[in-house]
Amino acid sequence: MPEIRTIAIIGAGTMGHSIAAVSLRAGLKVNLIDTSEAVLGTAGVKVRKLLSTHVNSEPHAALANPDAFRSRLYTYLSLEEGAAGADFVIEAVPEKLSLKQEIFKKLDALCPPDVVLASNTSGLPITSIAAGLQHPARVVGTHFYMPADIMPLVEVVRSDYSGQEAMDTTVNLLRFLKKKPVVVNKDIPGFIGNRLQHAIAREALFLLDQGVASARDIDDVVRYTLGLRFLHTGPLEQRDLNGLDIALNIAEYLYPALEDSKEPPAVLKEKVASGMLGLKTGRGLFDWSGTSQEEVIARKSEKLAKLLDLIE
Ligand SMILES: NC(=O)c1ccc[n+]([C@@H]2O[C@H](COP(=O)([O-])OP(=O)(O)OC[C@H]3O[C@@H](n4cnc5c(N)ncnc54)[C@H](O)[C@@H]3O)[C@@H](O)[C@H]2O)c1
Repeated sequence: MPEIRTIAIIGAGTMGHSIAAVSLRAGLKVNLIDTSEAVLGTAGVKVRKLLSTHVNSEPHAALANPDAFRSRLYTYLSLEEGAAGADFVIEAVPEKLSLKQEIFKKLDALCPPDVVLASNTSGLPITSIAAGLQHPARVVGTHFYMPADIMPLVEVVRSDYSGQEAMDTTVNLLRFLKKKPVVVNKDIPGFIGNRLQHAIAREALFLLDQGVASARDIDDVVRYTLGLRFLHTGPLEQRDLNGLDIALNIAEYLYPALEDSKEPPAVLKEKVASGMLGLKTGRGLFDWSGTSQEEVIARKSEKLAKLLDLIE
């Protein structure tokens, strides 16, 4: 793999600052770029907090040291300055195709052709981001999961244009970052994880809408059955454990009864229309009033890190 010493991360928000922590921890130099002065102003503190608490549950004392940290993390308001000299680029700006296309067009002109340009999009087509560039073969998807400093798996998405070299470089870099890369060979909307996540969420929202059980009870069924199993056995292996004849029998009578609407569910539309957006507004499908968003995320992250320790 080409030597990667400096990684440019575009967007220092939820995902960007967390991917920066992962990269710093592996010893890379990070150029963190954001158009918001306010975001950049707090990014350093946030990254340092991640490094000094847990990154895959292992505090990194050397980088928690302010001097070592300062010498590796650089922040930029300008894409041109931040991308200069980068050996690998990860874009983590808001999920808007036109914005990502505009940034990749600039990067394609700014970065030498052997520099891989990766998008952290949750599910926009990588092919559409790469289309029309001079060097589309170097564009791939790197879909990190939130919180990126803890969640081990990253989907590496091959677009219709991605070259094998760019895919290999990305997989190798992610292994170097101590992540578990999985190659997604088709640029399918939502990739793998978000398709599965939203398939379960669609059914859960349907069950809620039909009054089958409370939101808490529906979630508990997932947490204490599927959730526990999923820690060691995926849905495909589980079919083998049960027996494929049983899976076929159940699929024949159950699939016609499953929710398969192409429209977002009414309950979701109503909540959004009334400003009940979940944790960030204090109310959504659950009542979050009296809790701080930051505290809840920190608590969940800590639990995830402990679980990872247990299963590894
Ligand atoms: N948050 C998640 O759970 C999650 C998980 C996986 C993937 N993603 C994807 O990662 C990407 C980033 O999501 P996020 O949650 O970190 O968003 P965010 O809103 O927290 O952060 C985006 C940052 O990009 C900055 N930005 C906007 N325009 C810019 C530009 N032109 N140049 C540089 N910076 C710019 C914003 O100021 C902001 O700080 C999205 O594509 C999202 O779908 C998010």
